[in-house]
Amino acid sequence: MSVIELKDVSKLYGFGDATTLALDEVSLTIEEGEFVAIMGPSGCGKSTLMNLIGLLDRPTHGEYSLGGRRVSRLTASRAAKIRRDRIGFIFQSFNLIPRLTALENVALPLTYRTNMSQTKRLKMASSILDRVGMQSREYYMPNQLSGGQVQSVAIARALVNNPSLIIADEPTGNLDSNGSRLVMELLSEIHKMGNTILFVTHNPELTRYANRVLYMHDGRVIHDEKTAIGRVASTASEGMYKIAKMTEEDDLAGVSALMKAKPHKDNPPARRGRKRKTTTSKRRATPKKKPAKTKATK
Ligand SMILES: Nc1ncnc2c1ncn2[C@@H]1O[C@H](COP(=O)(O)OP(=O)(O)OP(=O)(O)O)[C@@H](O)[C@H]1O
Ligand SMILES: [Mg+2]
Repeated sequence: MSVIELKDVSKLYGFGDATTLALDEVSLTIEEGEFVAIMGPSGCGKSTLMNLIGLLDRPTHGEYSLGGRRVSRLTASRAAKIRRDRIGFIFQSFNLIPRLTALENVALPLTYRTNMSQTKRLKMASSILDRVGMQSREYYMPNQLSGGQVQSVAIARALVNNPSLIIADEPTGNLDSNGSRLVMELLSEIHKMGNTILFVTHNPELTRYANRVLYMHDGRVIHDEKTAIGRVASTASEGMYKIAKMTEEDDLAGVSALMKAKPHKDNPPARRGRKRKTTTSKRRATPKKKPAKTKATK
């Protein structure tokens, strides 16, 4: 059965000259139990797509059905309820509340269950932490955990309401290879239990865990590949992913355009305004700083 059905979904940000077409008539069906990797260059619309699918945002045009129900135009409170009951989120960073222990962080999504005692909530959280191999860290504060451990706790928190759909936007973006493996193995375990998982990655190696890989470019899904779990998707490391790779001339042209636009020394041509389009190996070596694009538009 299709869990997710998008039909001609577009998302526009901004107005007039400053309009960005973040998603351009995307039609997509995802079946229950699929483990989908979403790849594509920076700015191509991956997070926008995840936010729409996760009901954190609404499409400008088009239809979205989740579990057979039309959800494109829900009120914020209805969307929040569906999110709470069906969807677990894992993000690249800002995952845990720093002043709460691992256990309290995991129990947080249960707060709305007013008929459940705090002791019961903590018990539930504890058993989920156990499931992700983090029981011995229950009372640690987030700053006492490694990156991989923080993400394991974040995965536990995403699971605590027993969602059927897990959305992970670059869950390994800030992790080294051990941390990445830990997180992906956990997601695999969750997948084996029947969950549908969507994850965004820039790392072609991680397509090994998926059984389907979507490649995005300029707000569209330009390639959709079914893959065998355990294998890197055939086009992940070459072809599709390198569409966005810039030549040295492109880089120089971009820099000189910026210098022309902002010539004054008190207003230097901030590199952050330029779209990052690097090779995949460079990406892995340099963890991404998320808010660059918002700063650039100020
Ligand atoms: N809130 C917003 N307001 C205006 N423009 C936005 C907003 N969010 C995203 N965009 C624009 O929409 C496009 C798609 O952004 P999105 O964050 O979905 O890209 P992405 O593929 O997730 O990139 P990355 O790999 O860098 O995370 C970009 O051009 C971005 O600048
Ligand atoms: Mg993103």
